[in-house]
Amino acid sequence: MTLLIKNGEIVSDGKRHKADVLVEGEQISQIGENLSAPAGATVIDASGKYIFPGFIDPHVHIHLPFMGTFAKDTHATGSVTALIGGTTTYIEMLAPAGSEKLRDGWEHWNGLASGNSACDYTFHIGVTRWDAETEQTLRELAGQGMKSFKVFLAYKGAFGIDDQALYQVCKLAAELGVVVTAHCENADLVAELQQKLLSEGKTGPEWHEPSRPESVEAEGTAHFATFIEMTGAHGYVVHLSNARALDAALDAKKRGVKLDIEVVIPHLTLDKTYAERPGVEGAKYVMSPPLRDKGNQPRLWAALESGEIDTVATDHCPFDIEQKHLGDRQFTQIPNGIPAIEDRVNLLYTYGVSRGKLSLERFVDAASTRTAQIFGLYPRKGTVQVGSDADLVIYDPGYRGTISAATSHVNNDYSGFEGVEIDGKPEVVTVRGEVAVQGGQFVGTPGRGRLLRR
Ligand code: URP
Ligand code: ZN
Ligand code: ZN
Repeated sequence: MTLLIKNGEIVSDGKRHKADVLVEGEQISQIGENLSAPAGATVIDASGKYIFPGFIDPHVHIHLPFMGTFAKDTHATGSVTALIGGTTTYIEMLAPAGSEKLRDGWEHWNGLASGNSACDYTFHIGVTRWDAETEQTLRELAGQGMKSFKVFLAYKGAFGIDDQALYQVCKLAAELGVVVTAHCENADLVAELQQKLLSEGKTGPEWHEPSRPESVEAEGTAHFATFIEMTGAHGYVVHLSNARALDAALDAKKRGVKLDIEVVIPHLTLDKTYAERPGVEGAKYVMSPPLRDKGNQPRLWAALESGEIDTVATDHCPFDIEQKHLGDRQFTQIPNGIPAIEDRVNLLYTYGVSRGKLSLERFVDAASTRTAQIFGLYPRKGTVQVGSDADLVIYDPGYRGTISAATSHVNNDYSGFEGVEIDGKPEVVTVRGEVAVQGGQFVGTPGRGRLLRR
């Protein structure tokens, strides 16, 4: 495959400049002015468009058995909807049940993804129990390039682990040079608050947020940071949702704790009033940590622009309306999650760059480059450089549209962003040199995605 992309403005590694990009095979082979097309090359005119490195989503759930049901995506559906939204690599949370052996979970998840994902992918290895066999499997998987673990401080009795296990995971990660990613909510406090609210007859989705308040997440964040500090590991807080939790994470960073911070697009753009809608309309917006008071958002956006917050992910986790009805009788049974993989880049561009809260350079950094650097994918991914994989997004900032489940490609029957306006859209998306999206449609090769060892 030879592609010449002409006249676009490249935005990568903190810089922007007009240049042509030549792609030969799966990599970028030249960047320069007035490049001429080799024989047989496909030429794409990117005048008036940006050329971004393919975006990376560091936090998605594709296959997920959770709360008695399964998230709706397959690796085929999730990867295509990701690509249409400009995401060319995703990192999935492998999350076996605590009763399952990690080795079995790995084989199951890896087998489902293999040959089915249209874009490249890798995994955070979920540690949902601790024993000698789990430790041995973690050592083997890290040796095979699975260089990040995932722990849940929340979800008592499901994915959650106790402090003893958390300490062992962090210690092992420090030894192996593996990043520990963590869902930071104090599981015991959540369980107590849930029972208290239910016993008071407070059963609707509007009680989900009060059952896991900001302070509970702030405590979880400080707690995790302490374990990272004590073991000398490298930690990464996933889906941080509010200013108090941010303060806890930044306090740790000030002490020299190696901690990176992720926010997710629902927390930047939606708020708790959505989950306060009655019945299933509110249940559509139940995720954990919950959508918060809108007052948190200016702080999150400012910290994102300054780089105090490192990355923007989705926590993509689609459950359909029928599944959301599982929680009709009590909010604790609503499957947690909101789909967002197709919308992250356009929402971040619109409500960040276009609305003046985020520079174009930082937008690319937070949604691609920084993620690649943290998780060992850079400079293969996350940059427009000679020698890097030709994962490119030709982005049309002139596009104006509205998000709707009716036109979205996600394998779900509602969108959490229904009716939300967007100011830009990927026009062409390439994966390792192949055009995978053109004019908003998937035109790539199903199942071509590769497992990325890091
Ligand atoms: O509500 C969420 N976030 N669902 C997916 C599981 C998790 O905690 O990331
Ligand atoms: Zn989580
Ligand atoms: Zn998640």
